Amino acid sequence: MGSSSPDLSRRSFMKTSATTMASLAAITAGLPSRGYAGGTDKIRVGLIGCGNRGGGAAANCLEADDGVEIVAIADAYARGERFERGMRHIRDWCAKNEQPFNERVKVTSDTTFLGFNGYKDLLAMKDVDLVLIATPVCFHPVHLEAAIQAGKHVFMEKAAGVDPPGMRQVIEAGELAKQKGLAIVAGTQRRHQAKYRQNAHALAQGAIGRITGGRVWWCGGGSSTPPRRQPGQDDAEYLVRNWYRFSMMSGDHIVEQHCHNLDVANWFIGRPPVQALGFGGRARRQGGNQYDFFSVDLDYGDDVIVHSMCRQVKGCFTRVSEQFIGTEGSVWGGGKLAGKKVTVPNFEEKGGPYVQEHRDLIRSIRAGEPLNEARNVAESTLVAIMGRISAYTGQIVRWSDLTTNINSPWYTLTLRPTARDFENGAVVAPPENSIPLPGKA
Ligand SMILES: NC(=O)c1ccc[n+]([C@@H]2O[C@H](COP(=O)([O-])OP(=O)(O)OC[C@H]3O[C@@H](n4cnc5c(N)ncnc54)[C@H](O)[C@@H]3O)[C@@H](O)[C@H]2O)c1
Repeated sequence: MGSSSPDLSRRSFMKTSATTMASLAAITAGLPSRGYAGGTDKIRVGLIGCGNRGGGAAANCLEADDGVEIVAIADAYARGERFERGMRHIRDWCAKNEQPFNERVKVTSDTTFLGFNGYKDLLAMKDVDLVLIATPVCFHPVHLEAAIQAGKHVFMEKAAGVDPPGMRQVIEAGELAKQKGLAIVAGTQRRHQAKYRQNAHALAQGAIGRITGGRVWWCGGGSSTPPRRQPGQDDAEYLVRNWYRFSMMSGDHIVEQHCHNLDVANWFIGRPPVQALGFGGRARRQGGNQYDFFSVDLDYGDDVIVHSMCRQVKGCFTRVSEQFIGTEGSVWGGGKLAGKKVTVPNFEEKGGPYVQEHRDLIRSIRAGEPLNEARNVAESTLVAIMGRISAYTGQIVRWSDLTTNINSPWYTLTLRPTARDFENGAVVAPPENSIPLPGKA
């Protein structure tokens, strides 16, 4: 539901593709094609969600390994500006890197799947080895679980989802992937960035002693453009086209963006926090139903406190970073470390962290030693969800409320419409500008 007629939309995709391929043929004519270092060992990739990051992830994956071919795409709407941008990323990468588009991208009308159930057809394809999931955040748990059940390796963009049941679903999918020998790498790319890995390694050697606290920030510019409903859009399309503005779609920006910095905190400290107390609010934003800012104290136990801060307001100070203080020094996430000298290996980072994460993923698949980052990304996302619930309600929220305490009202907290509502055509957009009031929510 909410999708256009498959036949019509497939035709329009073919038109898009034909244009794309014609322009690429023109661009790449006469350029030498490069042999595949991986021999005939192809990794056939299906992309679910060909928007801005989906196209970027597909290009990163093509760059990571010469044996990668994109063979299928599933998108709720294979038309419009987002889809065009996704395709442009892939096309531009091929042109810039002298790669013949038709040899690296073998998507046809038969392997283009539309609508909110289209991903199921893509996953049913036997000759898809690896799936890239780059849909809005609320769809990730359902898409990941289905991909693992279908026997596919997965790259899944962060954040892992929007609510506690979704995070437990991601952790379970991760366990199933282990049993099936499947890889899951998440789009928390700092874990594949050399400077971060070097610092993590140094911390594990005791370079700054025991971590006693820290600060993590995603204070970015404004996201104050209100959502826009175009003529003819139903609620499902309106929410998907404006998913960055609605908390049930994105988890709010504390989840969607700040999960990157919270992931570093969990990684460097070595565990998730035991409780969160925070606040937030809305000052400038119009439309949608997200907050403008959050400020959350995260208690990691043993007197370790991390302060988390995130904001989307134009004209304010911006910082996206992490800092941790230890008993014998301090460290900035992927930056300066002041402490004891320890030996740290050179970690690989070729093409930047967005490419390196795909290199690590594919190498692990080829080596039969699949990486599995499901728990990491689920836990980082859950820290963000814990902070959001505390800010929305004004209450202290314990990790156990979201993971083990089935009597907690937050254990089963499910944001609606859910991914399944989109599949079943049961989407009703929430009231605009209606936000949770602490003390009353
Ligand atoms: N790692 C990073 O640094 C980073 C950066 C940007 C975005 N992201 C993440 O990437 C994901 C996608 O973000 P984006 O900016 O590309 O969004 P986008 O809106 O540009 O693209 C999303 C695409 O998914 C499609 N889609 C929506 N629901 C779908 C469904 N149920 N099934 C199939 N297709 C569906 C849309 O039509 C669209 O083409 C998000 O999770 C976001 O948080 C990560």
